[in-house]
This record gives sequence, C-alpha cells and structure tokens, in this order.
Amino acid sequence: MSDINIAVVPVAGMGTRLLPATKSQPKEMLPVGRKPVVQYVVEELNRVGVERLLFITGSGKTSIENHFDLNLELTQSLREDGKEDLLSELSYERANLQYFYTRQRQLLGLGHAVLCAEPFVGNNPFIVALGDSIIGMHAESKIVETMKDCFREKKADAVIAFEEVPEDEVFQYGIAKPKKNSNGVVFEIDDLIEKPPVDEAPSNLAVAARYVLSPSIFDALKNTKPGAGNEIQLTDAIRLLIQNGGTVYGVRLKKSEKRYDIGNFGSYFRAFTEFALADKNFGPELREYLQQIINEDPS
Ligand code: G1P
Repeated sequence: MSDINIAVVPVAGMGTRLLPATKSQPKEMLPVGRKPVVQYVVEELNRVGVERLLFITGSGKTSIENHFDLNLELTQSLREDGKEDLLSELSYERANLQYFYTRQRQLLGLGHAVLCAEPFVGNNPFIVALGDSIIGMHAESKIVETMKDCFREKKADAVIAFEEVPEDEVFQYGIAKPKKNSNGVVFEIDDLIEKPPVDEAPSNLAVAARYVLSPSIFDALKNTKPGAGNEIQLTDAIRLLIQNGGTVYGVRLKKSEKRYDIGNFGSYFRAFTEFALADKNFGPELREYLQQIINEDPS
C-alpha cells in the first residue's frame, strides 16, 4: 500500500464554548504560546509525511486560509529590516504541503464534515486530525505514524487515538469498548459510543482527535443517522464499520503525547500556560512570576 499522505482537518465548528473569544475569530486560530492551535496541527501532520491537506472550513474561518498563505510582502520587509529571527518564525509557510479548502455548508456534525472530503480523498486511506487539539508539547508526537503502521499491519478499516479520561468526563467524548486484552498500546475495538452518560460508558478510553480511516468510511457516513447532539457523528459511522464486519483498532497516547484540547476555557488556559512555560525565551521568567503570584496572599 502506498504511503498515507492525505489529511483532512475539520475546522468548521463554531467554538461556542469559547465565546466571546471566538465570536469573530476561529477557535483554531487562538494562540497557544506563540502559535495558533491549527499551526501545531499542520506541523504535526507535515512531520509524519502528509503532502496534501484538506481543511473543512465554514463561515468566519478565512483567517486560517490567510495563515497558511505565503506572505511575500511581509517576508520581504522583514528581510530588508534584517529581522532574521522573525523571518524564521514564518518558515512554516514554506512547508512541503499542498493546501486545499472546502466548506461544510451546513453544520451537521463531525461525521458530515468528514463526508465533505469524499470527492477529494476518493478511494484512498486518509488521516483525520481535529483542528482544535494539539498532541504532545510542541506537537512533537509521532502518534499518527504509529497509527499508520497499525492500519497497514492489521489491514484495519480504522485506527483511532485514545486517551484515558477521568470518569466524570466521559460524557464529552467518543468512548471505546475494547476487546479483551486491551492493556497494550494497540487494542482492538468491539464498539464505540459517542458521549455516553457515565453509567453507560464501557471504559474511560476517549477518542483523542486523530484517526486513520479507510475510504469505506464514506459509505458508512452516508448510512449514519444523526446521533448525539442530533449531529452526524464520525464515531457512529466507525461503529457501523465494526457492525458490518470491519476491524477497528485503538492506539493509546503515551504520557509524552498528552492531548491539549482547545475546546473550552479550562483546558485552553492549561494548554496556554504549559506552552508558555516551555517557551525558550519567556518560560523561565513566567515560571518565577507564577510562583510569586501563587504564593501571594489573595486578600
Ligand atoms: C469530537 C468527537 C469525539 C472525540 C472528541 C475529541 O467531539 O465527536 O468522539 O472524543 O472530538 O477528539 P467534540 O469535541 O467535537 O464534541
């Protein structure tokens, strides 16, 4: 099988949990440390061999397209001013990647967003990376590489990244029912449930924003009825693949592959703080400052 080098990045969601910050800017463009979230996602994909990347966008998302354009005027003026350090911050513009954009014209759910990629993806296996989640500090994780290997070796129909979440958070995620012997890094999946109440969750293994999918997902998506939140869920389509005799595997994120979710303020604040603390120039002084204000008497 030739290398899996197509990725689909859904970025159409409205980001309502991050209002008012996301009223007129996409949540995928919120900065985490020095870069917008979506840049980390693209850099991660570029590192694992993605060559063609399709964004599924929606209204109000044009700043994402602008961010990945070559800005020759800016580059030239930085060069003329001798600002080499700032120029290097724009080196991502020249990544060996082709960008494509299509719009999800109605917000009918993540599954529907992925279905919008069918004419582009055709009959190829592909990666789905959610545009609001960074995997690992500085997005240095190779989780997608591991998932691609698993997809090939097991001749799987889908491979999904998973992280363990606290029990009281399972209702926010797609949750796996693993087959027996699920303790290893890679495990086979019996069933998947999108956003179950805690007493119906078959485990605490939550779908973590990265998928490798065979093109058979498109037929499954066409046969998937609206589910949780009255939306067409990708989780339900993958479940259908299993019910139709397909094989689906999970790959557990390692400790160093923590998922940073930029979907709500709590996890966004934590992500920003961790990335800012890891900043080579400003991290150490921020650490000192935080220690100082945390120890101050709040009264
Ligand atoms: C989506 C998926 C869910 C997954 C989550 C994090 O949910 O539907 O299965 O666990 O992303 O990757 P959302 O955060 O869009 O509600």
